[in-house]
Amino acid sequence: MSLKLGVNIDHVATLRQARGTHYPSPVEAARLVMEAGAHGITLHLREDRRHIQDADLPAVQDAVSLPINLEMANSREILGIALKLRPAEACLVPERREELTTEGGLDAAGQFRELEPTVKALRDAGICVSLFIEAAEAQIEAAHRLGVPCIELHTGHYCDASTAEQPAILERLIAMARKAHDAGLRVNAGHGLNVENVGGLLRVPHLDTLNIGHSIVARAVFVGLREAVREMMEAMAGYQGGEP
Ligand code: PXP
Repeated sequence: MSLKLGVNIDHVATLRQARGTHYPSPVEAARLVMEAGAHGITLHLREDRRHIQDADLPAVQDAVSLPINLEMANSREILGIALKLRPAEACLVPERREELTTEGGLDAAGQFRELEPTVKALRDAGICVSLFIEAAEAQIEAAHRLGVPCIELHTGHYCDASTAEQPAILERLIAMARKAHDAGLRVNAGHGLNVENVGGLLRVPHLDTLNIGHSIVARAVFVGLREAVREMMEAMAGYQGGEP
């Protein structure tokens, strides 16, 4: 089973927004990511429009034949945009204005009622819904009860942890990937991954896709986007997929 790579190109737009220029272009980035052999493009249209702008979404979607994964907060405004865009996938994420990036997982258990109508509207539109959640039993059970086909496990804690702390976090990711798979959920993972730490994640069974952004865009400054994607795919190539 090979592991797919979804490349998050938000930070190409971050660089553009820093100066209010028209470059670097997320459309050009998406084309290069596709040429490099990645399997999907991820974009996060934040409520504060910090990086990706509304017009980027249809422009990127029209420019590439790869599936688009739209990361989105559970907000009425963004839901309306998602329903018009109809990306292949929508990943519901928590969002706070002051955060540097998506900091924690979505509380699918605590926000069950608020999530239900959003999940239904997206699914009725034929969009594959994913929830970005912590590797915790209650969250996986809530995702299952919400009827989503997919989850994305938050790997940020693993990536930020010391080498002493990492084994316990990895064991939890392994156990929760297994639980989600047994419940019939497709399992993705992401946040904070780079070519150095991705190797540890290859022990997590049943992974379908890793969504990786910041480290690839950062590396691209030195080697170009195509090569940065290629390096990441090489680092992911040993994935076995099934149970150890
Ligand atoms: N997955 C989700 C749900 C995210 O919110 C993000 C960050 O936008 C990523 C993956 C990618 O994280 P990073 O940029 O740290 O690779």
